[in-house]
Amino acid sequence: MPEHTQTIRVKLPGSPYDVVIGNGILPSCGERIACLGIGERCAVISDSNVAPLYSETVCESLRASGITPDPVNIDAGEASKSTDCAEKICRQMISDGHDRHSFVVALGGGVIGDLAGFVAAIFYRGIPFVQIPTTIVAQVDSSVGGKTGVNTPEGKNLIGCFHQPHLVIADTSTLQSLPDREFNEGFAEVIKHAAIRDADMLDDIMEIDGREQLTPLIARNVAIKARIVEEDEKETSGIRAYLNYGHTIGHAIETAGGYGRLLHGEAISLGLLAANSLSCTKAGLPSNQAERIREALEKFRLPTTLDKSLDTGTLLKLIKSDKKFHNGRIRFVVVPELGRAELRNDITESDITLAIQSLH
Ligand code: NAD
Ligand code: GLY
Repeated sequence: MPEHTQTIRVKLPGSPYDVVIGNGILPSCGERIACLGIGERCAVISDSNVAPLYSETVCESLRASGITPDPVNIDAGEASKSTDCAEKICRQMISDGHDRHSFVVALGGGVIGDLAGFVAAIFYRGIPFVQIPTTIVAQVDSSVGGKTGVNTPEGKNLIGCFHQPHLVIADTSTLQSLPDREFNEGFAEVIKHAAIRDADMLDDIMEIDGREQLTPLIARNVAIKARIVEEDEKETSGIRAYLNYGHTIGHAIETAGGYGRLLHGEAISLGLLAANSLSCTKAGLPSNQAERIREALEKFRLPTTLDKSLDTGTLLKLIKSDKKFHNGRIRFVVVPELGRAELRNDITESDITLAIQSLH
């Protein structure tokens, strides 16, 4: 077993699971998956960038553990997170002979995790799945918590459901092959975790130098996410909504740009800055604390100004179709001080307009 493996248990009643994080644990994934006893056949869903790098290692490990894998590969990119693509994958799985006794392995970034998780949730009314996240976003955030889904032209993640994985295997050595832009974008979610739950982590983030030894940082973030999900699995009490800090405006920017123009984390960087501006004016976030978040985003060369072609009217329209908008009011997450989030329902359209304008 490779050294320095950390395991975080997500203690959900009825569906607890482990998130195993370590450097070089991909070749032993089959053993860990076989221990779950969730089936002898699976579809290994991946994308056109990740599959050539890691699919065979995963499939070989599964075969060595007595599981028959069928690779299903789709085009890389946010545009694949669609109902069309979900249907195509389901149909391929049917023609490959999968049924309710099969399971799914999601091998890739957040796009694959959300899409393959959604496929697992709907295929034969739901089959088990295992997440093998290969980006920072996916390792620290999207692979944990069971939110699965696809986008529509009207907005992000508007079709989907909760479906918890049976296991998450995060091999931090896979982060070595990420292009710089994709590596950097992942830190938007890490910085978000610092803003809502762990202010001290900002110091550690500022000291990151290179891609080695990221296991402790990934594990620290998984623990933050796991504890929040345990408190509010289906986002009913509002605690889980804290994870949406920066996402209301960020998702609108991501959708308005056309899926794929800005990477998810790049759009969230702008969403975080807008949410910070609103936190300063409406919740008393000290400007020097907001500045620390900006500095962290800048360290990872994440965008801090909004392209003029994305006008405020278009973004407001998209924000109104967001799941968080209800009866003309939006549930908006603010951060009154670094490390502590709050949910507010008194944020008006003009507050949001000002926050968007602060990005120009
Ligand atoms: P992504 O899955 O598109 O991955 C980014 C790019 O990196 C892709 O081109 C991919 O092919 C490539 N890639 C992935 N792993 C690689 C590796 N190890 N080496 C080389 N290339 C690799 O994007 P992402 O940023 O991982 O995830 C963004 C998605 O996650 C968005 O759709 C977002 O909505 C979703 N998300 C979901 C949740 C959730 O709770 N479900 C949370 C956060 C984000
Ligand atoms: N990424 C937001 C959530 O999981 O709730």
